[in-house]
Amino acid sequence: MENLISLVNKLQRACTALGDHGEESALPTLWDSLPAIAVVGGQSSGKSSVLESVVGKDFLPRGSGIVTRRPLVLQLHRINGDREYAEFMHNSTVKYTDFVVDLTLIDLPGLTKVAVEGQSDSIVQDIETMVRSFIEKPNCIIIAISPANQDLATSDAIKISREVDPKGERTFGVLTKIDLMDKGTNAVDMLEGRSYRLQYPWIGVVNRSQQDINKSVDMIAARHKEREYFANTTEYKHLAHRMGSEHLAKMLSKHLESVIKSRIPGIQSLITKGIAELEAELHRLGKPIAADAGGKLYTIMEICRMFDGIYKEHLDGMRPGGEKI
Ligand code: GDP
Ligand code: NA
Ligand code: MG
Repeated sequence: MENLISLVNKLQRACTALGDHGEESALPTLWDSLPAIAVVGGQSSGKSSVLESVVGKDFLPRGSGIVTRRPLVLQLHRINGDREYAEFMHNSTVKYTDFVVDLTLIDLPGLTKVAVEGQSDSIVQDIETMVRSFIEKPNCIIIAISPANQDLATSDAIKISREVDPKGERTFGVLTKIDLMDKGTNAVDMLEGRSYRLQYPWIGVVNRSQQDINKSVDMIAARHKEREYFANTTEYKHLAHRMGSEHLAKMLSKHLESVIKSRIPGIQSLITKGIAELEAELHRLGKPIAADAGGKLYTIMEICRMFDGIYKEHLDGMRPGGEKI
């Protein structure tokens, strides 16, 4: 995963550089198609909590009274492979250090059924439209959140995810609040796929309760408690190995890795083509090169070459059988 992460970082930088260069490059578009992860679900279903547990850090506004009104797009970066930070796209001065993954995460506003006092009637539809605009992108990995203490039939997350990803190829169904289910009921039928079948098996989680949040229970303690919960609850014991936030994070990493790997050959050939085109253009310009045009082209070409080298190096260990391109 480490190699993959730094490769994605370098890719992004190359694509940005090429994007600055111009109109015709297909790379910026290609970069856009690299994965992002979004959480979708009803209000207070546990979206922010799940996103945080996946990352393993506290960084989102969370709580029963807290409503995310607009998508929070979070980019996690690594700097020079040692220091890491994250920033919100809409407020790049807020930086969070110490992350271990490099991803775009999107905390979407909660889907609602009715407008509350003071909201326009169109709010329900507006939120849905906005959420859909994010999750309909084929590059978007969807974490569809349904609270276990509500009827799954009413899960807006499942409904909207189905619409944009009918085969469930990029949807991870997560059942939150398993600890809050009515006494005498359990989520076993759901978790074993008998209530509603998903392409990827349902993952149950136990996030921090409001009381835990009030008492500032930290992530490590929360994860520990979650593990204990699944391991020690009679109904869930047999499922414990595929439950919890850490398992979800693992599944997401695996999925991301396969998506990125599948895109690399395409990116590689675009880069090769880009180099050839830039070389031809440089040749056409002849020498001496006008400082502006030539200089810029040259820089871009150097960047391309550098990344071309990086791909080969990374791909060496990543392709089946390790064959080079
Ligand atoms: P969001 O509005 O969908 O982002 O939901 P939040 O992550 O802010 O969570 C809403 C409330 O539900 C908070 O008070 C959380 O503490 C609580 N909560 C979320 N998930 C769970 C869970 O699995 N178990 C318990 N007991 N509480 C949870
Ligand atoms: Na909330
Ligand atoms: Mg939230």
